[in-house]
Amino acid sequence: MLPPTADSLDEALLTRLMTELESEAALRRFEVAPNPCVGAAVLSGGKVVSRGHTAPWGGDHAEVDALKAAVASGTPPKDWDLLLVTLEPCSSTGKTPPCVDAILDSGIPRVVVGELDPDSRHQGAGLERLRNAGVEVYLQDGHASLAKSSPHFLAFNKVERLRRPRPWTIAKWAQTRTGQLEPPEDVGEGRWISCEQSRLEVHQLRSRVDAIVTGSRTVQLDNPRLSIRPPVMASKGPLRVVIDSVLRTSPTSQLFHELREGEVAGDVLILTLAGADASRWRALQAAGAEIHGLHTEDGSHVSLREVQSYLWERGVRRLLVETGPDLLQAYLDCGFVDQVRIYTGDVNGGRGKSMGEWLSRAKLESRIDRELGDDAVLEGFLGE
Ligand SMILES: NC(=O)c1ccc[n+]([C@@H]2O[C@H](COP(=O)([O-])OP(=O)(O)OC[C@H]3O[C@@H](n4cnc5c(N)ncnc54)[C@H](OP(=O)(O)O)[C@@H]3O)[C@@H](O)[C@H]2O)c1
Repeated sequence: MLPPTADSLDEALLTRLMTELESEAALRRFEVAPNPCVGAAVLSGGKVVSRGHTAPWGGDHAEVDALKAAVASGTPPKDWDLLLVTLEPCSSTGKTPPCVDAILDSGIPRVVVGELDPDSRHQGAGLERLRNAGVEVYLQDGHASLAKSSPHFLAFNKVERLRRPRPWTIAKWAQTRTGQLEPPEDVGEGRWISCEQSRLEVHQLRSRVDAIVTGSRTVQLDNPRLSIRPPVMASKGPLRVVIDSVLRTSPTSQLFHELREGEVAGDVLILTLAGADASRWRALQAAGAEIHGLHTEDGSHVSLREVQSYLWERGVRRLLVETGPDLLQAYLDCGFVDQVRIYTGDVNGGRGKSMGEWLSRAKLESRIDRELGDDAVLEGFLGE
């Protein structure tokens, strides 16, 4: 409830707006996770000047989005009298500068917040900074619900997970109607399952992660570039990570080729076993790869637990796994996949292991089924 000093605020309007903003923000859940889905609005004299929502990964937070939209609306900043935001504004620098700074710079005199930051390290800090700077701050507790709009964010910040942090991991794959990741040999050059629109969408997905993981066999067989290509534009490509226990990757792989016009790609990092062959190690380094040695848990492959911890230490927070069925299954079996995007192409039959059985048992939350060109696309968060 708002305190008595907030009499001039229309509580019914704010409550309705809070609910609407939260639902709108949740529409982007698969693009923003592990960030929370937050909505914000700038008001002037009880009228909504602009709305904003957490942008896809790496983009603006909702408050900044709403403030930018308020500038674009033409309503002069002196008339903005209230900012409504469903979650406490951040006060520390992450991928973007603190939202508290943007709010203070805007000169907005009042802020209504729907819920406190659940992370005890930051809880209340944003509100305190605003209050100390003379902004009137109200907590409209209980009107916004992170548990409803952003259960993924709460899962990501669970104490058990914070103790052994690992990146938010999205597994994306293309499969035939029978769930196989390789088409029949005479379809799509024996390689392509999904339609062109889907492949374009994957480039957009790549532009919204910090790193992509693939396996050594996929590099050998498909020779992928793992880059972002036009028309999708990005300023920086994600780190390209190959899991390659015995350094099978060829130094002539396309991963090391020069980029074409408009193409962006991150550095190549090969994760291998600490005692891997020294001459291969040197040849791959000469080709441009960074190589890092890890331990094994099963006696033959690099430990995926170590892969995830190491990538976290390197600053990777949102990770895309684009692999064939073996490494994909290993990731799923370890419980390291948080989110899936599955493209089912207009292809019958196929080669190799089918994901059909796994999919029939998977507990998918906040699931979306949509059509894209000839493909059916399924997205969801993986429940515990
Ligand atoms: N449809 C799709 O979305 C899609 C995407 C990518 C690839 N593919 C297809 O998939 C096929 C290749 O699939 P794949 O699964 O054999 O190759 P992969 O994706 O390269 O995965 C296999 C590699 O992963 C590593 N690995 C396997 N189990 C592991 C574990 N438990 N722990 C750690 N590392 C492990 C192994 O590398 P080390 O032996 O070096 O440890 C192995 O070579 C190709 O035909 C490709 O065209 C399809």
